[in-house]
Amino acid sequence: MCGIIGALVTDRDAAPLLFDGLRRLEYRGYDSAGIATLDGDGRPTRRRAAGKLDNLQTSLYAAPMKGRSGIGHTRWATHGPANETNAHPHLAGPIAIVHNGIIENEKPLRAELAAEGVTFESDTDTEVIARLLHRELQRGSSPEDAMATVMPRLAGAFAFVCLLAGEDDLMLAARQGTPLALGLGDGEAFCASDALALAPLTRRVVYLEEGDWAVLRRSGAEVRNRAGETVDRPEVVTEVSGALVGKGNFRHFMEKEIHEQDEVIGYTLRGLIDGLGGDIAKPSLPAMPFDPKTLSKITIVACGTASYAGQIGKYWIERLARVPVECDLASEFRYREPVLPEGGMVLAISQSGETLDTTEALRLGAAQGQITAGVVNVPESTIAREARFVIPTKAGPEIGVASTKAFTTQLAALAVFAVALGLERGALTPEAADGHLRSLTEIPAAIRTILHGPVIRRAEAIAHDLVDKHTVLYLGRGTSWTVAMEGALKFKEISYIHAEGYAAGEMKHGPIALIEEGTPVVFVAPEDGLAEKTLSNMRQVRARGGEVILVTDEKGADRFGELAEHVLEVPTVDPLWAPIALTVPVQVLAYETALAKGTDVDQPRNLAKSVTVE
Ligand code: M6R
Repeated sequence: MCGIIGALVTDRDAAPLLFDGLRRLEYRGYDSAGIATLDGDGRPTRRRAAGKLDNLQTSLYAAPMKGRSGIGHTRWATHGPANETNAHPHLAGPIAIVHNGIIENEKPLRAELAAEGVTFESDTDTEVIARLLHRELQRGSSPEDAMATVMPRLAGAFAFVCLLAGEDDLMLAARQGTPLALGLGDGEAFCASDALALAPLTRRVVYLEEGDWAVLRRSGAEVRNRAGETVDRPEVVTEVSGALVGKGNFRHFMEKEIHEQDEVIGYTLRGLIDGLGGDIAKPSLPAMPFDPKTLSKITIVACGTASYAGQIGKYWIERLARVPVECDLASEFRYREPVLPEGGMVLAISQSGETLDTTEALRLGAAQGQITAGVVNVPESTIAREARFVIPTKAGPEIGVASTKAFTTQLAALAVFAVALGLERGALTPEAADGHLRSLTEIPAAIRTILHGPVIRRAEAIAHDLVDKHTVLYLGRGTSWTVAMEGALKFKEISYIHAEGYAAGEMKHGPIALIEEGTPVVFVAPEDGLAEKTLSNMRQVRARGGEVILVTDEKGADRFGELAEHVLEVPTVDPLWAPIALTVPVQVLAYETALAKGTDVDQPRNLAKSVTVE
């Protein structure tokens, strides 16, 4: 996590550009922020503030920072509390440093330096890097040699950028495991955690590879690899737009993003389906660099909400394409010695394309000879660049930490992928595929209906009852179970009320003990082949005093409605694709409850949008 940025500019001050970049990077963490520039006498001066960027802004307005070289940071705390002392940049002798990630061998390195009499000002692992570099400079090394000596000593996944006192035309930058992009301007140079932060400054971007470090000057960058050899990394013209996304007339990004879902699912589907206006619709995915007929297994790897998209994708792919699918949490997959069959695929699902565990899981698949694939929202992200086969989602920038439109567009992309595989493998006839695709394209209209109907008003009323509850149980069967888990994640993430998603059939094996008079239980239960069984579960909840909040379709409302205190109803759609529509009410319920509780909806405590640490 943490966002880092650096700038060597010419006839303007760096601090305003760095601050603007930090605004774009704030999704990576918002525990504290800071900027350092080389001021008039060539020494680093810094300004830091605990809490969100607004606090730093107040200080910058009061006394603007001068200097044409600078670095900036927005923090997600890992080592030491989120106070000003631990805020970046950190200083050590002539060095100012900003850092993202974790130095895993920080303790022995700190002890080694302490034994030599080095004292530390902060609890951070970052300061250890700066002190190591300082030691090398004191020993007479050039900045390049200091980097060459220190880099191999650092273990973990990290990226950092340094300024040096008296070196107005120099920045040192390194990447090992977490992203860093260099930006080349007209007589200016930049670097940042992502191309989004660079986009307003330059479109010419060089992505560092694992283990790379660079010496950046206004005239350009010299990049060295892990072995210290000078390497050429291609310069690309980024497609990422630098426009800052606003909230429009919405109160929060999350609210706006919920309301964009009909549109962005439509974009995603239009990019992946051909012939909708003609006789037969068919998938038009990017060319598959593998033979779908001989695909032996798909292993989906993802984290959080993206992993729930994967679980629903598993149901669809197995059903429509008859390929075995396993869906694994990326953080578990990496460490459990998975058996990956020959001719198998590892498919990473990620909004950001930068989640560390997901990226590493994809790399593990590549190392074991698997076809690598990704369902990714951010173009040019690490997963988008490293996977051989990429299905893009067109959600646009998702700013709210709670994932909404990214999830439903991931589902849309996975749905088309399932149909495409089914068709290619002969498990679906062209007519059957056409039918599935056409019913899929009805989903955006169904979502529009949900968002313009009574669901929001009803969710608002339910939310007022939920704010005082200690726990909420979410239950469902089949793909509705996954929607229930996604609903529970969304709910706890932004309302800070405990919520648990469970398979309805498993309720009797444990969670039923939670139910007492007034316990809210959200049932995600459309009318499908499992309705009768879900009905018995609802009765069991009611018999114990539980309050049923039913998320269902029109037929389900008729069938189960009388057992529920509250009903959030979606239009009837093809049952196969119903989880996409059923997700919207659980998002709205979480949003309205957070609103009623007064939590920070878009930047909930302790979280960050992109998780680039383990
Ligand atoms: O960028 P990614 O899709 O890889 O992110 C994965 C998760 O961190 C993310 O979905 C997270 O669970 C959301 N905050 C949930 O709303």
